[in-house]
Amino acid sequence: MLKRKDLLGLIDLTAEELTEILDEASQMKKRLKSGNKNLTDLKGKTATILFYENSTRTRTSFELAAKYLGATVINIAAGSSSVAKGETLVDTGKTLDAQLNDFLIMRHPMGGAPYLLAKVAKAGVLNAGDGMNEHPTQALLDMLTMRETFGKLSGLKVAILGDIKHSRVAKSNLFGLKTMGADVYMYAPETLIPKGIDKLGAKLCSTREEALDGADVVMGLRIQLERQQAGNFPTLNEYAEFYGVNGKLLSYAKPNAIIMHPGPVNRGVELTGKVIDHEKSRIEEQVFSGIAVRMAVLKLLNEYREYVK
Ligand code: CP
Repeated sequence: MLKRKDLLGLIDLTAEELTEILDEASQMKKRLKSGNKNLTDLKGKTATILFYENSTRTRTSFELAAKYLGATVINIAAGSSSVAKGETLVDTGKTLDAQLNDFLIMRHPMGGAPYLLAKVAKAGVLNAGDGMNEHPTQALLDMLTMRETFGKLSGLKVAILGDIKHSRVAKSNLFGLKTMGADVYMYAPETLIPKGIDKLGAKLCSTREEALDGADVVMGLRIQLERQQAGNFPTLNEYAEFYGVNGKLLSYAKPNAIIMHPGPVNRGVELTGKVIDHEKSRIEEQVFSGIAVRMAVLKLLNEYREYVK
């Protein structure tokens, strides 16, 4: 049993815990594929979704996941909450706890915000992305998509290219994939590589060809213009030409390699349109995996809540 109140990051999840979540997510996918969206695992439970940053897929995916499991779901957009009147995160958490919420699903621009919320809230807290820190359910859905394709994660070569410095997706993938025995290679302009990422187990590459050589997975990451205080490369066109992934570069990867991207994609920047729409692209499958993974995490956290009651 996943003995956790919250899911905050993958940095401290064991291989057994990751496997339990991925196995449960595979079951959820089967249930969804059989057309069953009226499940009862979370019947009588309440999940509140608190997003202090923009989102398309993560917010809708969490909402659908909780609803498919039978939970009541409340959405709070930061602009319409009392945070806009100066309420602190801790006071917001205590207020939502007093309303007997079972789960708080939060995206926040500050790294560590969900950890603080989890300290003060009785509700289970799920990190839907905190600043440049982690995005655990994104990495879990990426890992599920890879495991379904290759039947395993151990021994895979995963090449991650793009804005690694500002990416919570890169960090969660690095933590989860390393724990499961995969090798993570990274390539980006020097200015988009965070210092010390190699000490966490990433293999840094000097060229795109080196990163893609023999790769099982080619993962592009979005160039996060909104997080850049100053430009970290001259122009988007030059980024695309010198650092992006195009069809020709794919020939360095294994013949059965897959293409992934967490979205949203800057089409023609980190990946060319041809690569995004390639037959090897799993980008849409990733989105489907996202619902299954979030259902699995909610179910497992709920089982633990019931167990310790
Ligand atoms: N991958 C991801 O987090 O996408 P959104 O920002 O649309 O949620």
